[in-house]
Amino acid sequence: MATSAPARSLLPAGDLGGRHIVLGLSGGIACYKAAELCRAMVKAGATVQVVMTDAACQFITPVTMQALSGRPVFSSQWDPREAAGVGNNMAHINLSREADAIVVAPASADFMAKLVHGRADELLSLMCLARPIESVPLILAPAMNREMWSHPATQRNIEQLRADGTTVLDVGAGEQACGETGDGRMLEPEELLYDLVRFFTPKLLAGQHVLVSAGPTFEAIDPVRGLTNLSSGKMGFAIARAAHEAGAQVTLVAGPVGLPTPRGVGRVNVKSALNMQKSLDHLAQAATVFVSAAAVADWRPAQMLDQKIKKDGSGEVPTLSFVENPDILASIAASPRAQSGALYCVGFAAESQDLLAHAQAKRVRKGVPLLVGNIGPDTFGQDDNALLLVDAHGTVELPRASKLVLARQLIAEIARRLHG
Ligand code: C5P
Repeated sequence: MATSAPARSLLPAGDLGGRHIVLGLSGGIACYKAAELCRAMVKAGATVQVVMTDAACQFITPVTMQALSGRPVFSSQWDPREAAGVGNNMAHINLSREADAIVVAPASADFMAKLVHGRADELLSLMCLARPIESVPLILAPAMNREMWSHPATQRNIEQLRADGTTVLDVGAGEQACGETGDGRMLEPEELLYDLVRFFTPKLLAGQHVLVSAGPTFEAIDPVRGLTNLSSGKMGFAIARAAHEAGAQVTLVAGPVGLPTPRGVGRVNVKSALNMQKSLDHLAQAATVFVSAAAVADWRPAQMLDQKIKKDGSGEVPTLSFVENPDILASIAASPRAQSGALYCVGFAAESQDLLAHAQAKRVRKGVPLLVGNIGPDTFGQDDNALLLVDAHGTVELPRASKLVLARQLIAEIARRLHG
């Protein structure tokens, strides 16, 4: 059997490693979040050049943004300082030419209206207009009062900006600085960072609907006790995130874990193996890829008692009997959609030894084209792992790395197989 090279990590040295971002701030109270966003982008490996409008400087000082980005801030089209190593007094040209993207956060209603009309009376809008439109994407993070957001003029402007090729991100809902409640808040810095990372991720799974199972199941003995296992759900959640970054529509069926839902991913919470089977059987009918990362309990108590089993002091211990749970993955892999190739199934195997032999045998037994082996005690609850991918043609080793890096590599491997 051949052993091929692992898929290359999709983003080197941090999620934004090697990227140069021009971060523009227009006027709005959400400027305070732009400080955190700048810091997060730098931590993720990007170099960040900040450009601020005069209105933005009313909300936060260029000194703060300079300290966080490590570069002097530009705020005037008449600024004679050298920009991007060029001393031609044309900051609007020089700053945009070296950018991988211009991100305006916050983008005020007024600033977006200016962009729609191609106005350019200060450095930030001038730079947006002067950027090479094909190679320097413009990404806006709107921020405004809920009435301004829902006003037909704003919605019309957003439609026009999108038609002009601008990426306009969502807004958040909730309490606003003005005291009103509704849509229009700027997304939180970590949400913006996620959207940026996703923006730069190749859309290897565009058009796919990926179903992922994750976490343990909980098999109730009585209303307060049950059997479960040590699966943390981290690997499955990372796979759901990586699939969404790669452009898929993603549904995550999660056993009882306390992990936050990855941004943009639909989530169904389940408890027992039978609950999980019901959800997965239903959702698999619309999915094109199923990744079964859940650690489904092999057995469940033969009966779930209505009342708590009482310890009566006699020293007598209860006797439990078990029945086997259905093999969810094997039955979905045997379904007509999977057999016809409309649904690509990926299984997991957590072993304690002889990983290759067990993974190969399990792949055949489960009837799946791809099986991912890992050493159970080395992964449960950890943030990193190592994987061995086994298919009909051979194996691919993914060396120890964070679960998110491995999930991205696994998604690339799945996409390679889907596209023949
Ligand atoms: O047989 P084993 O539990 O080792 O198989 C692991 C793989 O099968 C995982 O992909 C797991 O999600 C899936 N599985 C299942 N239903 C079960 C047991 C395991 O779908 N009852």
